[in-house]
Amino acid sequence: MKKNIILLFVLLLFFQCKLKSTPEIVKTGLIADSAMVVSARQEASSIGISILKKGGNAFDAMIATDLALVVAYPFAGNIGGGGFTVYRTNDGKIGSFDYREKAPLAATKDMYLDENGDVIPNKSILGAMAIGVPGTVAGLFMIHKKFGTLPFSELIQPAIDLAKKGVIVTKRQEKGMNKYRKFFKEANQRIIFLDKYWKEGDTIKYLKLAKTFERIRDNGRDEFYKGRTADILVNYVQKLGGIITKEDLEKYEAKERNPIVFNYKNTRIISMPPPSSGGICIAQILKSIEPFKIGQYRHNSVKYIQLITEAERRVYADRAYFLGDPDFNDIPINILSSAAYNNKRMQDFSWSQATNSSDVSHGNIEIIESNQTTHYSIIDQFGNAISVTNTLNGAFGSKVFVEEGGFFLNNEMDDLSAKSGEPNMFGLTGTKVNSIEPEKRMLSSMTPTIVEQNGKLKMVLGSPGGSTIITSVLQNILNVIEYDMGMQESVSQTRFHHQWMPDEIKFESNFDTISFTELRKMGYKINQSDSKILGKVDAILVLPDGRLEGGADPRGDDKAVGF
Ligand code: GLY
Repeated sequence: MKKNIILLFVLLLFFQCKLKSTPEIVKTGLIADSAMVVSARQEASSIGISILKKGGNAFDAMIATDLALVVAYPFAGNIGGGGFTVYRTNDGKIGSFDYREKAPLAATKDMYLDENGDVIPNKSILGAMAIGVPGTVAGLFMIHKKFGTLPFSELIQPAIDLAKKGVIVTKRQEKGMNKYRKFFKEANQRIIFLDKYWKEGDTIKYLKLAKTFERIRDNGRDEFYKGRTADILVNYVQKLGGIITKEDLEKYEAKERNPIVFNYKNTRIISMPPPSSGGICIAQILKSIEPFKIGQYRHNSVKYIQLITEAERRVYADRAYFLGDPDFNDIPINILSSAAYNNKRMQDFSWSQATNSSDVSHGNIEIIESNQTTHYSIIDQFGNAISVTNTLNGAFGSKVFVEEGGFFLNNEMDDLSAKSGEPNMFGLTGTKVNSIEPEKRMLSSMTPTIVEQNGKLKMVLGSPGGSTIITSVLQNILNVIEYDMGMQESVSQTRFHHQWMPDEIKFESNFDTISFTELRKMGYKINQSDSKILGKVDAILVLPDGRLEGGADPRGDDKAVGF
């Protein structure tokens, strides 16, 4: 009897310790038979699904979801920013849309430097000079023209209705709005979020935004780029000292681009090409680790962290040197994403000692030449899949809020390299390839991605998080492909990140610290204080029986809705 009590006590103690060190993970997400939308807000996911239920396809749902996010998630959902969409139709055709912002025509290489050639703090981050020419509206209309089946007016109407009815403030939103209050105040603007101290449960109506949407509904794409909204935007930005002109807006064009496509073991991965670094970097990291039996290492173990970190270190060094707008540079995409190149890059990696980032530079390639964001995933009842990542860059972008238009403008200019080798707000550096030039698209980390297995759709995923987008997407691909996790289980796992410079591994605040001593002994620097969370992945997995499982990241208010 006494023995049994002691055993019970030991077991209780064991479970208590286990509970303490292992963050609770929700294992199974929403399961649906035919269609699903997973986005940063329930309102947007539900609107996307309502379009599918009306008979629209994934592209129709994408447009409606996107516009709903402008209302329900102004933190990143936008018409004043830009983004990327990767798609795979039900007959296996793939493609991507690039509606990334562009540098204004009046932009100059040194526009963020003082007379000594030093970067002026915050000039590329806060206020009117930080704004790139927005691309979202052009992107939505391009996608609608190519694939839409319902009239645009029907796709924008739910967002108009939502803006008029208002959106209920969540706890996270309350915190976010209050955190950025001081920046809104400094900018001396009449922003809706300054009207009062909004609290969880309050309803905010976005009436000016509703009016802008009505004008876009009635006048189409040109309303934003040539019409009254263009006038409102340009006048406001110029009043605040910005350089965007009507000509900038008139000249803006979204583009279709060939996605980055590569194989990892028995999967085929389709992701965003430059001006995003996402697809190439994911390809490079996966090619670097493919020769190793990573699935046999314990998930998030020392060996696992070490291998991924060493691959990321080398790949982000290449990112800084080789990547930028493909319309301005020849980018050696095929070499960078080849197995041979990346295996060579990993040759000097040692299991017993961290490589120093200062000893790692970009790889040698002979170039033959005449010389904060939101993600959502959609699968429709017809089998079309879309992966969309949109951004204002920082939270609420430049914090410039076009008062009469009711929307925020991006601070995407910070994603261009203000000065060679100087880190931007994500600590990323760049060189000439990503230097400032008029009409250049800034290098991005957004990684909207689609995974196929055995020729069939397997997964749709992506994330916000600046430079940590790539590594968040990577870890979710590995969770599913190497560790056989379900979608919700995968997105709920704790994450880590390395980006060459600064030379440190960032861990989420609830990452199990057990491996840190061993990693430190080998020379790895650990940073667990800067980032409470890394990425916020919204994803869909096609289950073996054809049903869909949503992964809505518990790090946010994200929600999967399906039928
Ligand atoms: N603005 C974040 C990114 O595009 O990477």
